[in-house]
Amino acid sequence: MDKPKVVLGVSGGIAAYKACEVLRRLTESGHDVQVVPTEASLHFVGAATWSALSGHPVSTQVWNDVHQVPHVRTGQAADLVVVAPATADLLARAAHGLADDLLTNTLLTARCPVVFAPAMHTEMWEHPATQENVATLRRRGAVVIEPAVGRLTGADTGKGRLPDPGEIFEVCRRILARGTAAPDLAGRHVVISAGGTREPLDPVRYLGNRSSGKQGYALARTAVARGARVTLIEANTGLPDPAGAEVLRAGTAAQLREAVVEAAAGADVVVMAAAVADFRPAVYATGKIKKKDGREPEPVALVRNPDILAEISADRSRPGRIVVGFAAETDDVLANGREKLRRKGCDLLVVNEVGERKTFGSEENEAVVLAADGAEVPVPFGPKEALADTVWDLVAARFG
Ligand code: PMT
Repeated sequence: MDKPKVVLGVSGGIAAYKACEVLRRLTESGHDVQVVPTEASLHFVGAATWSALSGHPVSTQVWNDVHQVPHVRTGQAADLVVVAPATADLLARAAHGLADDLLTNTLLTARCPVVFAPAMHTEMWEHPATQENVATLRRRGAVVIEPAVGRLTGADTGKGRLPDPGEIFEVCRRILARGTAAPDLAGRHVVISAGGTREPLDPVRYLGNRSSGKQGYALARTAVARGARVTLIEANTGLPDPAGAEVLRAGTAAQLREAVVEAAAGADVVVMAAAVADFRPAVYATGKIKKKDGREPEPVALVRNPDILAEISADRSRPGRIVVGFAAETDDVLANGREKLRRKGCDLLVVNEVGERKTFGSEENEAVVLAADGAEVPVPFGPKEALADTVWDLVAARFG
């Protein structure tokens, strides 16, 4: 079988060196990659590097091998075009349909999915000109990955950093797996909670659970690949940030509630994949609780935490917002799931049975997605991203 053809566009920013790692990941996972740098980007990484790493000749302009009509062929033949880093200038030229070098010609002739991974200083990213160009590209169906927050070229930090190359590769891999399917969550803002809350008992102990956050992160990664704007609110996962998602941190159920309620106010979809503690210790001991010789430990009094999913589901101030809950069950799985769907009032409830190689902490999962209208969709045992994609299929179908 022919290898999938990927065009890796590289524009002129300091993060161009990180594109070498994106290229490596793509070639090592069986993709045929043609690198198309801009002239400016060669100040940062030379053509010899791209040629050696990709195994293909490299050109910035349309005047080499003219008999092969590269300005049209390169884009037409591609299964995916990814531009990493995409500078403010490149985004502007792409949004305005300019075609003054091989990369911009390729962007005009490509009919496959196109991904931009912007990298620039915060001021340039936030400038209305750049934001309008990004909105234009997204409206036309391109996936523009939100830049990461962190160290920029100099000592400064802020939003505008190129996401981790491994995460950019993950976005490309997922988009390629979707074939020519359109980014059906484009223009949608989705909020996802992931991980497990921890309720402090004293400065060294907490009540927690076994959630790793993997299911929530799979939802975030797949939503980015489907074109959504993603806010991921994570609790105690320690996982690397998925490319393109805005990541907020919460420790306790109360902190998670505050973050979810605030983000949900502007969201089209809220997915509660986090395992949230139903109870917390009634009293927080400011000093470490000590053993007392010969005496039984004091019982720990608990109080209820707010039910975030029920609260968001009951709030219909944003008409059309879709709310998805999860339920991890050990007994009477479906019956409990159906009862929980009714009690929580969400639109969809993903019921997963707690088991050895699935649900908490594992790479795989298996579930039944229950809908408020009575529909039930079984999802067979498989990677957590397959379950995530089924959830997005059902959400996208509801948007029509
Ligand atoms: O993180 P992983 O290791 O990948 O594991 C994934 C998972 C098992 C955590 C995930 O698939 C899952 O099932 N998440 C929900 C876990 C759970 O126990 O839910 P629950 O049955 O306690 O709660 C039902 C729903 O209400 C959930 O959407 C939960 O986020 C929400 N909830 C619960 C309590 C509370 N106080 N507020 C809530 O919003």
